[in-house]
Amino acid sequence: MNLKNDLLLRAARGEKTERTPVWMMRQAGRILAEYRAVREKAGSFINLATTPEMAAEVTLQPVDLLGVDAAIIFSDILVIPEAMGLPYEMVEQRGPVFPSTVHTLEDLQKLHVAEPETDLKYVLDAIKITKKGLAGRVPLIGFAGAPFTIFCYMTEGKGSKTFSVAKKHLYADPQFSHTLLQQITDSTIAYLKAQVAAGADIVQLFDSWAGILSPEQYRVFSLPYIKQICDAITEVPVTVFAKGAFFARKEIGELSCSVVGLDWNMDIKESRELIPDKTLQGNLDPCVLYGSYEQIRVEVKKMVGQFGTQRYIANLGHGVYPDTDPDKVRCFIEAVKEYSSL
Ligand code: CP3
Repeated sequence: MNLKNDLLLRAARGEKTERTPVWMMRQAGRILAEYRAVREKAGSFINLATTPEMAAEVTLQPVDLLGVDAAIIFSDILVIPEAMGLPYEMVEQRGPVFPSTVHTLEDLQKLHVAEPETDLKYVLDAIKITKKGLAGRVPLIGFAGAPFTIFCYMTEGKGSKTFSVAKKHLYADPQFSHTLLQQITDSTIAYLKAQVAAGADIVQLFDSWAGILSPEQYRVFSLPYIKQICDAITEVPVTVFAKGAFFARKEIGELSCSVVGLDWNMDIKESRELIPDKTLQGNLDPCVLYGSYEQIRVEVKKMVGQFGTQRYIANLGHGVYPDTDPDKVRCFIEAVKEYSSL
């Protein structure tokens, strides 16, 4: 189906756009009262994520309520470990927890490469329902965690400031680490291909914990696996967002992806120089949205001025914080549209 608004896809492909497309990481979530109502009805995050009709409903909400130029399918990066045989729980106010974790090659024999058509059918169904609901209004973004970030959760079992349990394995048992990273990579490639077949128009890889690695470790334990995924997904544009990996921008810029996401620690001009031939996405500090309407407009104008209106997808530098006022979010989105119109 032809899209009525394909700004995001044109920007991703490096084509001219009459204005900069804008969306927000974590836009389908707790900032919206309408999300919280569906979440309440579902009873739990996991029930919401695994019920395709409800997942589709909250995916559509930001398109209707915020005016973003893309929808992102409501799910989580942790569905991949679950599909591989390592289930997670979402603990209220605390975040994800894995009741069991993996630490030895023997543990890995109990896992399997995810089979998306069975293990992740609920996500594929949610994508199909969402595409019908969108009726071509805006593109749909699919996503997955980058292998290293998924590795962090599967070994550490929960969030952490240092992920020292996860990182210990990289030094102490590189063979275990590479075997698990490859299993995750194979699962992710199958999963993203299935998302595209179900209707995803572009896919994003979240390497949320990239910033805890040294440049050398990043080159050994993260980049090669991201590269395999970028090389395998040829059907649609791929976005790589490696939070905190300012030191790897040049290498990420050389991958076969179309878009590179930036966080707010990354200087815009320097990033353009390091990544000259790709579309950039980002990178407003989510805390700017706690400022006044005037402050938000000033910061957005500065950001668009630095990126320029072309080869650019406006976003925050990480997910929007749950206690952000939706009116401030609307101000951010409107400001991008206004300041980037040719
Ligand atoms: O709108 C969207 O972006 C789509 C939905 C989405 C969720 N998680 C829903 C969610 C996406 C893209 C994610 C990705 C995700 N999940 C990442 C990568 C992006 C990032 O933020 O770095 C990571 C690291 C996770 C793992 C995860 N899921 C954590 C650490 C938490 C707890 C912290 C938190 O935000 O609550 C989650 C829970 C989660 N995932 C919620 C939502 C809406 C909140 C739970 C709820 O609503 O009950």
